Amino acid sequence: MSANERPQGPPSQTYDSAFLKACRREPVPHTPVWFMRQAGRSLPEYRKVREGTAMLESCMRPDLVTEITMQPVRRHGVDAAIFFSDIVVPLKAIGVDLDIKPGIGPVVAQPIRRREDLAQLRDLTPEDVAYVTEAIGMLTGELGGTPLIGFAGAPFTLASYLVEGGPSKNHEHTKALMYGDPQLWAELLDRLAEITSAFLKVQIEAGASAVQLFDSWVGALAPADYRRSVMPASAKVLESVASYGVPRIHFGVGTGELLGLMGEAGADVVGVDYRVSLDEAARRVGPGKALQGNLDPAVLFSTPEAVEAKTDEVLAAAAGLEGHVFNLGHGVLPTTDPDALTRLVDYVHTRTQR
Ligand code: CP3
Repeated sequence: MSANERPQGPPSQTYDSAFLKACRREPVPHTPVWFMRQAGRSLPEYRKVREGTAMLESCMRPDLVTEITMQPVRRHGVDAAIFFSDIVVPLKAIGVDLDIKPGIGPVVAQPIRRREDLAQLRDLTPEDVAYVTEAIGMLTGELGGTPLIGFAGAPFTLASYLVEGGPSKNHEHTKALMYGDPQLWAELLDRLAEITSAFLKVQIEAGASAVQLFDSWVGALAPADYRRSVMPASAKVLESVASYGVPRIHFGVGTGELLGLMGEAGADVVGVDYRVSLDEAARRVGPGKALQGNLDPAVLFSTPEAVEAKTDEVLAAAAGLEGHVFNLGHGVLPTTDPDALTRLVDYVHTRTQR
């Protein structure tokens, strides 16, 4: 594709990076690696700069966001940075009364369960998140040729926090609304799709080279319910950023049975957790998409030899893929030894050198 056929595409200095090539299913010099939750509590330098600053406040400080986003890039030599923020930042930005409680996660003051509660959700404008635009401007300068991944929470996962009022194991209130009032549910997801689309556009326009839509908790649904009650809203988000020409990654946990549908929703890259091998995931997703994954994050607590053996298994399962971005099957666990992550990046790069 010639440059002027691309509507916008990623910033030109990152276009030829291994990460973006793998997302586009082009030949790569080595398999690119990054880790979900690479910026965060596993790093002592993160804990140090976060001292005394609440999570959501940190997300609004471009200097801190830039420093925290850069930390894993400097330390591990990963092939992409992920923007330091949180999936609830756009909700906070439009005035939803919520907080991120340490060790718990997002907690919402007034859960959304009735039609009146929808009034909490107005549209997001770029001015609401001016600090995001500023931070990404600073970051793309520092990152140079290393791509920055922007991200957002998908409508189902955001709805789960909003309806439950906090983290949930069984998503019972969420499912009660989804099955009991499909009309209100559809309106809620559609509003969240608008907010999420606006948040992703801000990040792409500020200079993000790719985006990841996290539908972390959607694995709680059966395929028929996903197709009927969730896929339209996720598809709307992914379609809304299609014309930018930056890769769209779509990830959830426990989504083995949904991988095909999550690809169909409009992903260029489907994220796979560690419960399904990448060769099997490729069969489920079908041709024309790259895959991202999928070493079990708990493996990093084992011996270096065991980490290498499990990594070899992932790489062997990925051998026939059209495009592979190496990642963990979910986020870095907070007590992971950072040196184990650095060694893993080196190991994948060495083993896949072409
Ligand atoms: O490197 C990175 O990925 C950092 C950026 C990032 C954060 N959250 C920072 C964060 C990203 C991409 C997220 C996404 C996110 N947030 C998801 C989707 C990813 C996934 O893990 O499935 C979800 C479900 C959330 C909601 C959320 N926010 C949870 C579950 C938690 C953890 C609560 C806890 O303390 O155990 C948060 C808080 C949060 N977001 C932290 C970080 C670094 C920890 C807060 C802290 O360090 O004080």
